[in-house]
Amino acid sequence: MEFDIRSYHKTDLSSIYRICLLTGFNGHDATPYLKDPDLVGHLFAAPYAIFEPSLCFVLTIDFKLCGYVLGTSDSIMFNDTCEKNWYPELRKRYPLPNEDEDTLEAHFIRYLHKKQTLFKWTDDYPAHLHIDILPIAQKKGYGSKLIKVFINQLNRFKIKGVHLIVSKKNQNAIDFYKKVCFQELEELEESIVFVQKL
Ligand SMILES: CC(C)(COP(=O)(O)OP(=O)(O)OC[C@H]1O[C@@H](n2cnc3c(N)ncnc32)[C@H](O)[C@@H]1OP(=O)(O)O)[C@@H](O)C(=O)NCCC(=O)NCCS
Repeated sequence: MEFDIRSYHKTDLSSIYRICLLTGFNGHDATPYLKDPDLVGHLFAAPYAIFEPSLCFVLTIDFKLCGYVLGTSDSIMFNDTCEKNWYPELRKRYPLPNEDEDTLEAHFIRYLHKKQTLFKWTDDYPAHLHIDILPIAQKKGYGSKLIKVFINQLNRFKIKGVHLIVSKKNQNAIDFYKKVCFQELEELEESIVFVQKL
């Protein structure tokens, strides 16, 4: 098996959706929990690839996509772009669920409808990222390589810091982020904010 890391190309978009779905339930396959398999990719992968392609890198095995890292250098600007060009159409398509619905899908749709608050840590850590690798390519060092490629690009853009938010239920990812030099900044209700100064 030959692994490679390269820049994103727009022909990669459907594979990015697939990988996001297969890792979208706290690092595991979200397929059984979603009526629309694209929902998770609409939120956590596609807009980055579309609006910030220079910060999207893919991992391939024998030319087939098996992972990615993607994000933004400016979380506030990225959120504005999504508010104007991405969320309005999706909010029409996925109406808010009933308050008592406690499914992964309902959780994602509520996230879509919630106007993102501008977190205090974006001043010092304006960039943020998402990384997802399929099980076949995990624990072989490619996660740390993807993080390195992403951070090199942020350094080229002279960005001063990067943050990410991880679910408290995803212990694998929490352990991984600590290994690749992220520090815990703040505990939220269901997640943890990790940061790295650049
Ligand atoms: C989390 C993830 C990105 C890690 O990538 P990876 O390629 O498996 O990790 P690597 O092989 O590069 O490991 C890098 C380091 O982290 C450590 N590490 C990775 N996973 C770990 C785990 N579950 N527990 C403890 N340490 C771990 C490795 O041992 C390695 O340390 P070393 O350099 O001292 O050997 C990947 O497993 C993944 O995509 N998981 C599913 C999706 C997901 O959860 N994404 C994050 C959402 S917030």
